[in-house]
Amino acid sequence: MADHDPMIPRVAHVRRKQRELVDVATLEIDAGEFFFAPGQFNMLTVFGVGEAAISVSGDPADPSRLVHTIRAVGAVSRALTELSVGEPIGLRGPFGRGWPMDEARGRDVIVVAGGLGLAPLRPALYRLFAERENYGRVILLYGARSPQDILFRDELEQWRGRLDAEVEATVDHARGDWRGNVGVVTKLIARAVFDAPNALAMLCGPEIMMRFVADALGDRGVAPERIHLSMERSMKCAIGWCGHCQFGPVFICRDGPVFTYAQLRGLLATKEL
Ligand SMILES: Cc1cc2nc3c(=O)[nH]c(=O)nc-3n(C[C@H](O)[C@H](O)[C@H](O)COP(=O)(O)OP(=O)(O)OC[C@H]3O[C@@H](n4cnc5c(N)ncnc54)[C@H](O)[C@@H]3O)c2cc1C
Ligand code: FES
Repeated sequence: MADHDPMIPRVAHVRRKQRELVDVATLEIDAGEFFFAPGQFNMLTVFGVGEAAISVSGDPADPSRLVHTIRAVGAVSRALTELSVGEPIGLRGPFGRGWPMDEARGRDVIVVAGGLGLAPLRPALYRLFAERENYGRVILLYGARSPQDILFRDELEQWRGRLDAEVEATVDHARGDWRGNVGVVTKLIARAVFDAPNALAMLCGPEIMMRFVADALGDRGVAPERIHLSMERSMKCAIGWCGHCQFGPVFICRDGPVFTYAQLRGLLATKEL
């Protein structure tokens, strides 16, 4: 999209829609060929309502399918989840620095997702599994609030069936029919088998969860420079002009959204940021 003013949305259309959870929907957008790097995001507009930053959640190897997964939390995100097939949608992007897929080559890769955080990580997982021979161990640890809140359940089960990856899920609380893990996702880190000095981690989820996970990985010996996390802040321009997404000395849109824990550790500990 280099020939296009980055502030002007192009008009695309919803090609397919899938309800994932009560408040979460995945939209496939008809945008021609769309290339992006895992971890990048777009600004999506519902005309007459507003614009929101949403990560691409589809497969980076398939530019014909632009996919976003959205949780309805406010006016814009709700309007996005309520769009129907064929309706117009505004699109700016892709923006931001994504997951360090090159740096991950040859290393054990630990992916830790909380709740909807699995969506921005899914493109990285598609890449890891598609190019499996380029990486060491691949470990996916996923935490959801309850069994009903597990996102992309079919895919999680499919990945779990692979013999060349460790995939674990846990829920914060469950009723009697759940036979899986119960407890916070950090508990799964203690059991995971990886070569810490050679490992790289990718984290996405609520900030508090990412802090605990990063500290648990640090306790296991993973260097803060190799722990990468995706940050969310309210966005306006998404291209480093307006300062709306400022977090201490960095702009989340331009310098991230993916940062290392070494970069963010001090800032995350500062409550008022
Ligand atoms: C880089 C990036 C990637 C994102 N990827 C996704 C994604 O893949 N799927 C998805 O559903 N959402 C994603 N978000 C969050 C999404 O942008 C916000 O949920 C959305 O902008 C909220 O707008 P709204 O008008 O619906 O709600 P608002 O009325 O603006 O807010 C409703 C509530 O959500 C909180 N909120 C608003 N924006 C954010 C934010 N950016 N981060 C955390 N809390 C927020 C508000 O404080 C308020 O409590 C991403 C955000 C960023 C910055
Ligand atoms: S949203 Fe404008 S600088 Fe980041």
